[in-house]
Amino acid sequence: MRLALVLLALLALLAPLVSAFASRARRRDFRALSESQMGALATLDPPEWDAVDSGHLAHLLVPRVSGTENNTQVQEYLSSVFAKLGWHEDKDRFTQETPLGDVQFTNLIFTFDADAPRKLVLSAHFDSKWFEQGGFIGATDSSAPCATLLDVAEALTPLLRARKARVDAGTPLLQDGHDEEDAAATTLQIIFFDGEEAFHEWTDTDSVYGSRHLADKWDAEYLPPSHEFVRRRLSPRPTVLDTVDVLVLLDLLGAPSPSISSYYRDTDWMFVQLSAVDDRLRAAGLVDKGAKEHWFSKYINQFSGIDDDHRPFLHKGVPILHLITSPFPAVWHRMSDNKDALDLGVLRRWNRIMRVWTAAYLGLSADDGGAAATAAPRNASPKTTDEL
Ligand SMILES: *[C@@H]1O[C@H](CO)[C@@H](O)[C@H](O)[C@H]1NC(C)=O
Ligand SMILES: [Zn+2]
Repeated sequence: MRLALVLLALLALLAPLVSAFASRARRRDFRALSESQMGALATLDPPEWDAVDSGHLAHLLVPRVSGTENNTQVQEYLSSVFAKLGWHEDKDRFTQETPLGDVQFTNLIFTFDADAPRKLVLSAHFDSKWFEQGGFIGATDSSAPCATLLDVAEALTPLLRARKARVDAGTPLLQDGHDEEDAAATTLQIIFFDGEEAFHEWTDTDSVYGSRHLADKWDAEYLPPSHEFVRRRLSPRPTVLDTVDVLVLLDLLGAPSPSISSYYRDTDWMFVQLSAVDDRLRAAGLVDKGAKEHWFSKYINQFSGIDDDHRPFLHKGVPILHLITSPFPAVWHRMSDNKDALDLGVLRRWNRIMRVWTAAYLGLSADDGGAAATAAPRNASPKTTDEL
């Protein structure tokens, strides 16, 4: 990661590119959760959560440099979590030259419903930075963000499943006048990028190995004729990148008092919703760390960006929400970025924010399976495929 000032001129060059795709980040009906739904989701904390190095983090807080045995073990752990949840897994494995010679990298891509035409993508990098002396753990960089993604997947899988069952059975709910069959067309995808870290000095080529590879791959992969975007004759010919509503990238999180900015105008409304979720959690007494602290800036920071795994996707026009603390944590790229840098209350707050925001984005009903869900009115009108 490197703090890079993006010049106004560069932004001006990119602006037309971004606006050409702006329709993809069009505003959704962001269905705010009721107070009780929010409370139910927020307090779903796993029972083993009494220390920062128990649960998922116990498996992630190890040195895991790309191409090493430990990196493979972390991949296996991530895969095992999603296998249990029944998600679809794709591996993007490739070998690339680095300053240390050829290294094998593996991005892991997990999708709840691989047939859905659109995706909300949450992502983080799971590799840790190489240091000659070894031993660097990267707790904030990015073990904690990876653990949050696992938490979101576990918390929301039952809701995603319940909705899919209703849609498959032809009995989707009508919520606030919106049919959840439409909402179900956007699924949740979680990407763990490998090779984010530079081996030597951070440059355009010695950094973000995994995300560069995946963005190139998806940019060259055309959608099948049956896809709704192809049927709608979108131009230019749509690729897998077009199925990404937004790429949300989490990085350098888990230490106390983060300061998070919005960097992109087209996704600022999502950032505002994220900040609103945090405000609601705080007002409801569901935040036990820094409850008086604002983590989310009120202003768009359009003139500086932080180089990270989103770069290759941004340059190909994918809408980006970059959740990173700036300034970076004091432990950044130091041996002290270990479990002592993390705070349980902070991690819990991030998990709650991301669970509630993601559920609202996807239009999930948080009391799914409960009495409230079955009591809601059903949509009886037949759908044609054109309406998908
Ligand atoms: C691999 O992880 C273990 C902890 O599980 C650690 O003791 C070991 O040093 C790591 N190996 C390398 C090469 O960093
Ligand atoms: Zn780093």
